[in-house]
Amino acid sequence: MPSPASCLRSRSGGAMTRSTITSTENGVTRRVYVKTYGCQMNVYDSMRMADLLAPLGFSKAERPQDADLVILNTCHIREKASEKVYSELGVMRRLKTAKAERGARMIVAVTGCVAQAEGAEIIHRARCVDLVVGPQNYHRLPELVAKALRAGGDGMIETNFPTEPKFDFLPKAVAPEGVTAFLTIQEGCDKFCSFCVVPYTRGAEYSRPAMQILGEARQLVRGGAREITLLGQNVNAYHGEGPDGRVWTLGELIRRLAELPGLARIRYTTSHPRDVDDDLVAAHREVPQLMPFLHLPVQSGSDRVLAIMNRRYTTYEYRRTVERLRSARSDLALSTDLIVGHPGEKDEDFRDTLDLVGEIQFAQAFSFKYSPRPGTPAASAANQVPEQAKSERLAALQTLIVTQQREFNLSCIGRVLPVLFAKAGKHEGQIVGRSPYLQSVHIAAPRYRIGEIAPVRITAASTNSLSGAIAEAFAI
Ligand code: 5AD
Ligand code: SF4
Repeated sequence: MPSPASCLRSRSGGAMTRSTITSTENGVTRRVYVKTYGCQMNVYDSMRMADLLAPLGFSKAERPQDADLVILNTCHIREKASEKVYSELGVMRRLKTAKAERGARMIVAVTGCVAQAEGAEIIHRARCVDLVVGPQNYHRLPELVAKALRAGGDGMIETNFPTEPKFDFLPKAVAPEGVTAFLTIQEGCDKFCSFCVVPYTRGAEYSRPAMQILGEARQLVRGGAREITLLGQNVNAYHGEGPDGRVWTLGELIRRLAELPGLARIRYTTSHPRDVDDDLVAAHREVPQLMPFLHLPVQSGSDRVLAIMNRRYTTYEYRRTVERLRSARSDLALSTDLIVGHPGEKDEDFRDTLDLVGEIQFAQAFSFKYSPRPGTPAASAANQVPEQAKSERLAALQTLIVTQQREFNLSCIGRVLPVLFAKAGKHEGQIVGRSPYLQSVHIAAPRYRIGEIAPVRITAASTNSLSGAIAEAFAI
């Protein structure tokens, strides 16, 4: 197994986002290109890395070929996600060679969970890599990049060894990228689900002190954020130290955040069903800023498989948790993660999953074929499910999920929803907003309205988005 450290949870697994940064040091202009794979926690980490490197004199590169430093911030949750990194490194090797032929250099850094879990393999397989930095060492990035720059892009530096809690050394989030922002409050996981690599790559559960979080949230709101999503691999296991020396729960933290003037919306992800305590349920009832949408991964609808997965809840308990939440907030919509073909899953177990999904009626769900991760207990189980069965189950499950998602979106037609105008749309005169249920809403409106929350009458819906018209006259 890889050395213990940090990881991530990815709903999109291989999804990628790009971010870039700007700065100068002693008049030197350098450019950095960051490619982010995986979950929102990686997106947050990429932004922090960008903030950290700014004082070294880095400016934004839109393409890797224009960059002095390329960072691949990677995801290890499923095999496909980590393999993508190696194919991208092939592209980087060619770019680096082409640049070297022109007398220019390019430093290649691999960060994130693949860096943590497969540092030695990266060094072995991808000679173009100069830096391998695991998630617990990001605060050391400036020092390591400076070292790599001094080595002229020829030295291999690997730092996967956790030193100190990284949050103590990272700068606060400087500014949100838009009106919605992420804020990591917790990292790591102690739950050790049979299939999951997170406890090995992101390490033991760690909660940031509440004051650090409140300070960072204040700064994000000052920078224009209207909605903050609190992030953590196991976010509702949050138990950070409060200013009063007591341990704060997530519910308590949410209440305090809700007091920040200007912060209109709060969300949190990703939760574990076992950690939905009464205080959190009460926060859903009492805090209007807490959005009525919750991602609550169930993984399987079979009690037998849940036990094999070491999830430590039954389907009865999951249903009860959903009931408690829905009775606190009747308009709560749910999303979930599901795995098909976990070792030992039989046809009847899969049918139980279909039944549970049918019963709960998720507004959104992410489903994955089980992917063996080296070093996890499930990877060495003898009773692996054949690929063919996994594919068939995934197809059947996704048909059900898409139907439910479309039905949920269609049920919004005719309703007036408060929509946060988040960014310009693809078409002239169009804005894309966010509904309380995290749906994208397309509206005809001028760009200057970005940042507002206004009532929108929903007029059309598809599987993935809504459209509507501003309905100023309607009260929300
Ligand atoms: N195989 C398939 N899916 C996985 N997930 C986590 N580990 C694996 C794996 N080995 C899924 C879970 C988790 C989401 C982030 O990714 O559903 O909730
Ligand atoms: Fe992975 Fe389970 Fe921890 Fe979630 S709770 S991060 S699935 S080990």
